[in-house]
Amino acid sequence: MRFDLVIRGGRIVTASEAFIGDIGMRDGQISALGDSLPRGDDEIDAKGLLVLPGGVDAHCHIDEPPFLNARLADDFRSASLSAACGGTTTFMPFVNQVEGLTLSQSLGDYRAKAAGSLIDFAFHVILKADETEVLKADIDALLAKGLTSFKLFMTYDGYQMEDGQILEVMSRVGAAGGIVLVHAENGRCIHWLGSRLVYKGKTGLSNFRASAPQVVEREAVHRAIALAEIADARIMIVHVSSRDALEQIQWARARGLPVLAETCPQYLVDQGDRLSSDEWGAAKYLCSPPPRGGDNAEALWKGVADGAFDILSSDHCPYRFEGEDGKRAFASEPHFQQVPPGVPGLETRLPLIFEHGVKSGRISLNQFVALTATEPAKIYGLYPRKGSLMPGADADIVLWDPDCPTTIRHAMLHDACDYTPYEGLAVSAWPVVTLSRGEKIWDRGWVSGAYGRGREIPRQRAA
Ligand code: URP
Ligand code: ZN
Ligand code: ZN
Repeated sequence: MRFDLVIRGGRIVTASEAFIGDIGMRDGQISALGDSLPRGDDEIDAKGLLVLPGGVDAHCHIDEPPFLNARLADDFRSASLSAACGGTTTFMPFVNQVEGLTLSQSLGDYRAKAAGSLIDFAFHVILKADETEVLKADIDALLAKGLTSFKLFMTYDGYQMEDGQILEVMSRVGAAGGIVLVHAENGRCIHWLGSRLVYKGKTGLSNFRASAPQVVEREAVHRAIALAEIADARIMIVHVSSRDALEQIQWARARGLPVLAETCPQYLVDQGDRLSSDEWGAAKYLCSPPPRGGDNAEALWKGVADGAFDILSSDHCPYRFEGEDGKRAFASEPHFQQVPPGVPGLETRLPLIFEHGVKSGRISLNQFVALTATEPAKIYGLYPRKGSLMPGADADIVLWDPDCPTTIRHAMLHDACDYTPYEGLAVSAWPVVTLSRGEKIWDRGWVSGAYGRGREIPRQRAA
């Protein structure tokens, strides 16, 4: 058998196995795994390295419409480059309705934007609290086009849906075998709590957490679970931030309900009290739901280890800190209701989870692969083409140096944002080579591959 490329002698790790061996690939696909494979046209010596499926990041925001006057810094070029350099080979951004266009028309718009991507991708769809009839027609049209995952919001002005609309969306998507992603925070409670704080003159950023406390997430998670049970739908609670919310998910799963869950590094890497300051600097850590502090990160890690979470994503949402279109676009003074929520994280997702999960003994390497690559690919219908190392799969492979002490600095990252919330944090492993369909796109500091080589991957029905 002739191979274009053989990765030789690395420690190959999948969601279920780990062994020393070789991987041979041809025409962009994995064609053999084994011991002592014949020489390829090209070879990579992977001795001492880990050989993993490329990461699948199932939650990132790229080139969406402005929010509170702020613009996302990344386009598909910079976001996909950043992802590749952090070991991610497939990502899933959102189609978010473009002003004046229907959702279906917006899909065309996003496909055009994504034409610059370096890595492969598939889309979710963000639903706005629009007129229900329009929404219904749009959802059906998108389901017919093979888009099967829809995110709805229980908070945010302009997006927040009431229970009746949520039931409509869930029953429609559920009946078609799709999945509903839920941003679970009770927006009315957030408004009420926020108004009380503002009335008392408490407007600094340190009040953000008090305006959206755990109970607000817990209530919304519980309601989303109940609505999904009524509507007979499968749901994914995204960016879970708290112990209380996790308990609701565990409760639902114990009852056998099809409730899946996602969390992200900003909730797993305890950054102490960075959101307790009223200074502008706190805006670098402000996202929704808020990172909680206390024992929440440890509780979430326990949930990750015990299987309560299905996937770990970045929720990459890169508003710049400086500049007129960033975190300070809406307000001249730091005000907890006027900073667009979201933090960047595409490139740091995997190294941070590796460090705080695998290196610190909270999860195994197999769990790491499952949570960051295999499960997202399965849940969103990209498996086994993505998230696996099976013969026939796309040769999306990442070589990790497990002994590569690195201090995270924004200067070394490749996104178009101007900060990382993880500045100065130390990690001890880093992805050193990233292959996308057999092509080296990141190799120890060198970037190659043409923008626009990324493809939209057709979705199977969710697993
Ligand atoms: O703060 C966040 N998470 N921003 C991104 C938008 C969302 O809700 O996922
Ligand atoms: Zn959200
Ligand atoms: Zn998000």
